[in-house]
Amino acid sequence: MQRIEDLKYMSGFGNEFSSEDPRCPGALPKGQNNPQSCPYGLYAEQLSGSAFTCPRSTNRRSWLYRILPSVCHKPFQPMDQGYLTHNWNETAPDPNQLRWKPFEIPTTSQRKTDFITGLHTLCGAGEPRSRNGLAIHIFTCNTSMINRCFSNSDGDFLIVPQQGSLLITTEFGKLLVEPGEICVIQEGMRFSVEVFGETRGYILEVYGIHFELPDLGPIGANGLANPRDFLVPVAWYEDRQVAEGYTVVSKYQGKLFAAQQSCSPFNVVAWHGNYTPYKYKLSNFMVINTVSFDHADPSIFTVLTGKSTQPGVAVADFVIFPPRWAVANNTFRPPYYHRNCMSEFMGLIKGTYEAKEQGFLPGGATLHSMMTPHGPDAECFEKSSTSKLEPERVAEGTMAFMFESSLSLAVTKWGLQSCLDKDYYKCWEPLKSHFNAKQK
Ligand SMILES: [Fe+2]
Repeated sequence: MQRIEDLKYMSGFGNEFSSEDPRCPGALPKGQNNPQSCPYGLYAEQLSGSAFTCPRSTNRRSWLYRILPSVCHKPFQPMDQGYLTHNWNETAPDPNQLRWKPFEIPTTSQRKTDFITGLHTLCGAGEPRSRNGLAIHIFTCNTSMINRCFSNSDGDFLIVPQQGSLLITTEFGKLLVEPGEICVIQEGMRFSVEVFGETRGYILEVYGIHFELPDLGPIGANGLANPRDFLVPVAWYEDRQVAEGYTVVSKYQGKLFAAQQSCSPFNVVAWHGNYTPYKYKLSNFMVINTVSFDHADPSIFTVLTGKSTQPGVAVADFVIFPPRWAVANNTFRPPYYHRNCMSEFMGLIKGTYEAKEQGFLPGGATLHSMMTPHGPDAECFEKSSTSKLEPERVAEGTMAFMFESSLSLAVTKWGLQSCLDKDYYKCWEPLKSHFNAKQK
């Protein structure tokens, strides 16, 4: 068994990687993908993450060399959905500002819950069949997945752990993802999640597209999330028969299905390609902002973007608000009041969010829907309108993030029933008029 402290990674975003489990040197075929007979008697299997004919810049695939091909399983059967849904008509639309208290994590004595049974869909839009849209899920779990893996045929998962680390075994190798890091498990990749206690986090799922690094424009060649800081696992395999059966859980067209097989799916001895899972440590983000006055738009905090077909418009961006210096002169420094043609879902990994010091807590969330007004609470406005402006650290010890989408999101029944803070609107009620027509 591989020890957590021995886990190794390769570095770079979207590189052409190749990796062999050191127990089988030379497992990768030389000079071709599909020899008549593969080294060590392995099967060759391609995993395509883009249409075969996509231009090179967006073409993604990997070749896996495995003990048995993925096709060796009994038929998929429908299984209990739990709180996972892609039905966006469960509730009536609600344009209000929504805020959730920290989502409750069951204890093992209440019920043993693994990553799959702990998936709860909070909101979303679009449709996996037409390959356009997204879902935001909350996961709360306390138990490792034992002899079962998950695979999503609908899209990519961007996973943001908030409490507890995730040891994720994938067909490409193992990733340890701790709070303060994120990982992306792309469409079709089988993975299993081990946890070490009560665990919680957020998932952004996008259908039919993959996350990319945002273009940098006039920023230049460096900055924001640098490609070299994205880490990819190295090949690791187990040749393990499972007498009681190994369960492959597949999410397909928004529904869960289970298939039995007799061996572990993590039987890939070597692989190469540019379609892989990856992780990223958020503290590696190089933050850019004004050094004179006013705010740059929060798009400068974009870590990854899931582009739509409309130039400059994302299906979903993953944005963070990391610790940084605030130095703007003559400026109201917290986020300004605004209404946006985008939907803004926010979560808090740790600390205190600058625009709302109370009520928005780690493990909780907010949703400010399309054109729904929002901004700093009354206390923040009063304090920041009069405070002496000096260079200061903001968001120290804090990590808030946003999933921002050009789609209008529907909240699920679970979302409206769980941990909703009915008093959220009250944080703006004390805002008072300072208008005086006689005094400029
Ligand atoms: Fe906003």
